[in-house]
Amino acid sequence: MKDMTLSVKNLVARYSSEDGPVYAVEDVNFELNEGESIGIAGESACGKSTLGLSLIRMLSGGTIQGQINLDGESILDLPE
Ligand SMILES: Nc1ncnc2c1ncn2[C@@H]1O[C@H](COP(=O)(O)OP(=O)(O)O)[C@@H](O)[C@H]1O
Ligand SMILES: [Mg+2]
Repeated sequence: MKDMTLSVKNLVARYSSEDGPVYAVEDVNFELNEGESIGIAGESACGKSTLGLSLIRMLSGGTIQGQINLDGESILDLPE
């Protein structure tokens, strides 16, 4: 059986604000196989929560570009 793989390619997430676009996540790439884990570290407002919310399709008020595949299935193309 093929291992479950999370693949994130060229992930971009942006918000719009009164002051213009907010470039929250810019070109994130990584891959995780079953049983693997990663930690995301960075200063406040660097985009950690936006990245996590994007992966589970729970981002509200922002737009996502790029690819998120879980076991070959495109998360961003799934219906709500
Ligand atoms: N709903 C939103 N609308 C506009 N800007 C947002 C929104 N949510 C987060 N941001 C902005 O996106 C950037 C990344 O925020 P966030 O992902 O929460 O960072 P972290 O979790 O690393 O602290 C910050 O500049 C934040 O102000
Ligand atoms: Mg956060």
